Amino acid sequence: MARDLAALIHPLHDRSAHQAGHVWVQGRGAMLIDAHGTEYIDGLSGLWNVALGHGRRDLADVARQQLETLAYASGYCGSSSVPAIELAERLARLTPPTINRFFFTSGGAEANESAFKVARSYWKRRGRASKTKVISRELGYHGLTLAAMSATGMPAYWSLFEPRVPGFIHIPAPYPYRAAPTSGDSYGIAVANELEQAILREGADTVAMFIAEPVIGVGGVIVPPDDYFPRIREICDRYDVLLAADEVITGFGRTGKWFGLEHWGVVPDIVQFAKVITSGYFPLGGIGVSDEIARVLDEGGEPWMHAHTYSAHPTGCAVALRTLQIIEDENLLAEAARKGAYLLDALRARLASHAHVGEIRGKGLMCAIEFVDDRDTKATFAPEARVGARIHAEAQARGLFSRVRGDVFVLAPPFVTPDDLLDRIAEILASATHAVLGPSPGSAPRA
Ligand SMILES: Cc1ncc(COP(=O)(O)O)c(C=O)c1O
Repeated sequence: MARDLAALIHPLHDRSAHQAGHVWVQGRGAMLIDAHGTEYIDGLSGLWNVALGHGRRDLADVARQQLETLAYASGYCGSSSVPAIELAERLARLTPPTINRFFFTSGGAEANESAFKVARSYWKRRGRASKTKVISRELGYHGLTLAAMSATGMPAYWSLFEPRVPGFIHIPAPYPYRAAPTSGDSYGIAVANELEQAILREGADTVAMFIAEPVIGVGGVIVPPDDYFPRIREICDRYDVLLAADEVITGFGRTGKWFGLEHWGVVPDIVQFAKVITSGYFPLGGIGVSDEIARVLDEGGEPWMHAHTYSAHPTGCAVALRTLQIIEDENLLAEAARKGAYLLDALRARLASHAHVGEIRGKGLMCAIEFVDDRDTKATFAPEARVGARIHAEAQARGLFSRVRGDVFVLAPPFVTPDDLLDRIAEILASATHAVLGPSPGSAPRA
């Protein structure tokens, strides 16, 4: 760790927090092993990506074969590779019938950058150059390159790096646990209508797209009401605003379907993906676009001057193809749905009655526990109490490694996690909660 601290700058760098970090040396299935030889359950599948588990020979083999055959070839106009073509063809079969064309990147933020640029270029080519703004949501996470950061709806990610890119606007996200009472409309419709109000405020002729995660991930695993996205689709259609689904976490089975928006029968104009597409075995992301957007892109005129050296990396595409095949062969969509329900039940059985557990929620194999100071008022703990961070530390001491956002503990274990390890996750979290907040309802010591 001393060598690490002397040599590295980390993502979300925080030197003092990192002192208690781990140097990981091996992964096996749902387990991670650190340099001391201590084993941990990988409660977040790496960073929501290693869905097929660590140490897989099949993914390593396909990467090695492709590296030996053609490790890299440019994907720039005038160049292509067989794995890239096959991956795009396969994705066309998995995405809605209107999405058939794909652009690949190295990860999620680049996918979102590509979505912003494809949306702006689409409207420009259609003679509506004033449609440039991007509306996103508070608590949404879209990556941390400058424009993706500007779409991300959590100010902690902005403060050192402002000014943000102009033209990025945030509206409230649905947060059923913290829903304000609405009169007339359901909560889902009322929150969706925030989009309409923002479009009218900004002027529909200035708005290019709305971007949203089907289930908010990093922001605390927040599942929208069922009527939210259908209404969002209607509003986007009414005002000619493209709907871009950030499926970077939810894509490829995490919620029990290939894509999160399938839960509500909603078809986006652009879909962004990354993470599970290679199960983390190679950096790859991308976007799919509707036939209408693809048609406009194909139209002549100036070239579409957007690109990355590693767009459509043949090795990444080969690993992705095998990942998708494994998800199908091992029936992992159904498994993610079943295991997610199993984990939620296990967490609820052990923690639902605890005086400081506000909500246990999830969809498929992504879930969260929200800790609160007062269950009745839903009042949060004072940030100085560092309740989430302390539960995270106690969980690690018991062999579970995941992440917290404030006092929300998030979980997204690999799709291949055995049921007994899901039980163990729940046991560890119950024990860690008791260590920090007291063992039984009402007996919690204040920090
Ligand atoms: C929904 C979502 N979008 C985008 C990103 C950014 O992806 P990357 O870190 O690969 O740039 C993430 C990363 O967690 C994410 O959760």
